[in-house]
Amino acid sequence: MIVLGIETSCDETSVAVVKDGTEVLSNIVYSQIVKHRPYGGIVPEIASRLHAECIHDLYKRALDQAGITVSDIDVCAVTHGPGLEGSLLVGVMFAKTFSKLTGVPLVPVNHLEGHIYSGFLDAVGSTDTSSQPLFPFISLIVSGGHTQLVRVHDYFNFEIVGQTRDDAAGEAFDKVARLLELGYPGGPVIERLAKEGNPKAYTFPRAMKHQGLDFSFSGLKTAVVQTFKEQQKLGTPVVPEDFCASFQKAVSDILIFKSLKACQESQCSTLLLCGGVTANRTLRESFAVEAAPHNIRLLIPPPSYSTDNAAMIASAGYFKYQHQITTHTEPTLYPDIRVIPNLSL
Ligand code: KG4
Ligand code: ZN
Repeated sequence: MIVLGIETSCDETSVAVVKDGTEVLSNIVYSQIVKHRPYGGIVPEIASRLHAECIHDLYKRALDQAGITVSDIDVCAVTHGPGLEGSLLVGVMFAKTFSKLTGVPLVPVNHLEGHIYSGFLDAVGSTDTSSQPLFPFISLIVSGGHTQLVRVHDYFNFEIVGQTRDDAAGEAFDKVARLLELGYPGGPVIERLAKEGNPKAYTFPRAMKHQGLDFSFSGLKTAVVQTFKEQQKLGTPVVPEDFCASFQKAVSDILIFKSLKACQESQCSTLLLCGGVTANRTLRESFAVEAAPHNIRLLIPPPSYSTDNAAMIASAGYFKYQHQITTHTEPTLYPDIRVIPNLSL
């Protein structure tokens, strides 16, 4: 079964073609980052205009690269939340129009579920299924807007076992980068500088370490700002490399500690990392080192599937559609999908 995936929830426009939920035939991503960078963050109006300008071209490229024509598409899956309203609307309108014109069934997908399904994708061209998650497993979703630990019981049952009480981890990366005037988005540039720095140079808190599975990153952000200002006052400005390394280590330590704890408490031996922050190579390596002694099977999709992409949406759409068919629920071919900016799991 061939699924066309469409993702426009934030500042990446993406169209993908995925076979049978796992085999990625194409995954075209256009990142708008350079257009938003001068403003130090995402400007929603610019984001939706750019989605509208490029989505049709991306659609054509996705089909070309997959070597298929429109008549090969069986299902269309589209992100309908959470995300920026204007951005989501572009993808949903495109998908609805496509579906009405072609008669291809339409499936709405929750972006957060999409991130979890990134764990089911094979590398382009590969049909190796040995790296697929086994239920039940714990998924850490860590992105610009979310930090959640989810117990995934099966394809359709998600239980949030922990989440941030304030900022998301990606948001903390972006805010620290803004403080240091490193530009937007913060994650990649902080990772680059941190590689050259000493993670023990500055002392930052690991908030709520022994209080359940929830996270808090606002205290870390405040500590980072305070240290930065104090050092300036003392006439000894912070060393960016050391500062980034210490901040990144504080985030990484708490993410790893709580994820392993979630696995232990939920008796799950598989841990899937997903969302933009998990593109961070240092974080990936630290997870691997820490998980090994606990016999945890760690699954980390390639970085191109960690950040926003339509392949994960197509995968989620495939499993949702299959579920509708096998439970004998007559799939609604053209559901009146509404955009839900604050949709949760
Ligand atoms: O999943 P994603 O692409 O979009 C959302 O759904 O939010 O995540 C974007 C977030 C941003 O906050 C960005 O700074 C962060 O992921 N990010 C990273 C890295 N690459 C992206 N954080 C740390 N290290 C990275 N290499
Ligand atoms: Zn995302």
